[in-house]
Parts: sequence; structure tokens; C-alpha cells
Amino acid sequence: MNLVVGATGFLGSDICRRFLQQNQSVRALVRSTSDPAKVAALQSLGAEIVTGDLKDPASVAAACQGVRAVISTASVTISRQAGDSIQAVDLEGQLNLLNAAKAAGVSHFVYVSYSGNIDIACPLSTAKRTVEQRVQESGLTYTILRPTNFMEVWLSPVVGFDAANANVVVYGSGQNKVSWISLGDVAQFAVESLTNPAARNAVLELGGPEAISPLEVVKMLESATRRTFTVQHVPEEALQAQLVAATDPIQQSFAALMLATAQGDAIDMTATLQTFPLRLTSVEDFVRR
Ligand SMILES: NC(=O)c1ccc[n+]([C@@H]2O[C@H](COP(=O)([O-])OP(=O)(O)OC[C@H]3O[C@@H](n4cnc5c(N)ncnc54)[C@H](OP(=O)(O)O)[C@@H]3O)[C@@H](O)[C@H]2O)c1
Repeated sequence: MNLVVGATGFLGSDICRRFLQQNQSVRALVRSTSDPAKVAALQSLGAEIVTGDLKDPASVAAACQGVRAVISTASVTISRQAGDSIQAVDLEGQLNLLNAAKAAGVSHFVYVSYSGNIDIACPLSTAKRTVEQRVQESGLTYTILRPTNFMEVWLSPVVGFDAANANVVVYGSGQNKVSWISLGDVAQFAVESLTNPAARNAVLELGGPEAISPLEVVKMLESATRRTFTVQHVPEEALQAQLVAATDPIQQSFAALMLATAQGDAIDMTATLQTFPLRLTSVEDFVRR
């Protein structure tokens, strides 16, 4: 049995789907407040549903019973309820889960963090790096996945990149390269981590097949759609000022992530692909889709 925490999220739901397609059993941790349609979708795929919350150690302890592997993608960055915070969920909640996994004798812990190139201090980075360290010290077999920006999120209207309306917001100059990765590929790495020896006690930096700048993505879209895009830049200085001015931990973390995106995040996947021979989705594939 594999326990997926964050199962109603973009990445977690895709991980559940991939396990179930391979006839691997999945227990999906959802919350009493989770979107019922997302819970029903997990159920119809064949997942066993367990209700819990990372802030509630007893619920995660119960969820870990009889589990072989835990895969945690949960985060409050986008999906938040009353009482959720980076400190309570991304930090303490993930540590509750790690402790519960250890106590229950789980054999493999897969933790989804983010790219090691994101080194701008912010509460989310503190939480991610602290949990990574505790996972590594836990004595459990672990895999830490450090993906860069998901193309489905960072090249979407959620962050102002509205390709359908040929109107995009670009952070910084738009000239620094990012190895945008498809979340489906991150999900595939998570699933294969349980069986691929190269993922045992490993930290994997994950990017897509090529590093390309936001302005190159815009050019690609312009030629695919035969439209001229309006590009609005948010200068790095403005992002820096936003980071300094933010008082809320989530706003600080968003400002840091936008700034990190502006500064670029190129990840060379050559060595990783030798042990994980996946065909990674390119931005061009994504644009065509
Ligand atoms: N987006 C990117 O570009 C990117 C890049 C690198 C790494 N990542 C990392 O990838 C991971 C997955 O991202 P995503 O886009 O799939 O996130 P998402 O769609 O926002 O999903 C977050 C999940 O966490 C759950 N959750 C939140 N608080 C919880 C709590 N207190 N207890 C239990 N579950 C809780 C949510 O459940 P509810 O539905 O009940 O709220 C949801 O299932 C995150 O850790 C993120 O930091 C993302």
C-alpha cells in the first residue's frame, strides 16, 4: 500500500492515477474540507480514501498503518484552509508525517521539495530544506524530489501567463533560462522512485528536457498561434521590493519564487536520464497540447 499525501492536488492526484494504472494500491489522504469532486475522482480511480490532516498527528499516524511507501506532495502555497500555514503544514505537518511513517515502519519516504537553485531565503524554503534534512536523517529509505517550475502552473494564467489571450506577465527580463518541467513527469519520477535503485537515498534535481527563457516560450507561442503577444514585465527590483515589504509568510514565499523564476533555473538532466530513461515533455509538446 502506498500512501499519497496531497492526493487532491495537481501532482498528488496524478501520482495516484499512475500508481493505480500499474495496479499498485493507493491510500489517498484527503481532508474533511477537500473538494468532494476531487475525492470522488480519486475513489473512482480505485484509491482507498483516508481522512486526515498534516496538522493532526493522530490522523497521520492512523493513515500510515500498513503502508509500504509514503509520497508527500502536500503544501499550503495554493490550497489552504483555516489554521493552515507554512509553519503548521509545510514544516511541522510534514515532520508529523515523517515521524508517523517511521513509527509505522514505512520502508520508503518520497518527499516533494523544490529545485536546489531556489536559494532565496523565505519561509517556504526554510520549511522545504528543514524537512529535506530531517528526511535524510530519519533512517528511512528516502527520495527527495527537487523539481523546478511546473509548466502547467508557471506558463498558465494562475501566474499571469495567459497564452489563450496572448497576454502574458513575465518576471524579470524574461531572458534567463528555466528548465520548465511537466507535472506528469514529476509524478512519473515519484512513482518510479519506489523501484529504481538510483532513487534510493537520493536527492534528485528535476527539470524538463531543455532550459528556455520566458521570452523564448513567448516566441514559440507566437509562431504556434500566429498571434503577437503583449508582454508585461515585472522588473526584478519590483520583485525584490515585494519580498522585502511582505509580512505574510505566504506572500514572502511567492515573492521569492517569482524572483527565483526571474533569475532562471537551468537543470541539466543528462545524468539523471541515464538512470531514469523517461521521455520528458518539452515546452514545445506543452504548447502543442
Ligand atoms: N507548482 C510548481 O511549479 C512546483 C514546483 C516545484 C515543486 N512544487 C511542489 O510540488 C508539490 C505539489 O504541488 P501541487 O501543485 O500539486 O500543489 P496543490 O495542487 O496546491 O496541492 C496541495 C495539496 O496539499 C494538500 N494539503 C494542504 N494542506 C494540507 C494539510 N494541512 N493536510 C493535508 N493535506 C494538505 C491539499 O489538500 P486539499 O485539497 O484538502 O486542500 C492538496 O491536496 C508542492 O509541495 C510544491 O511545493 C511545485
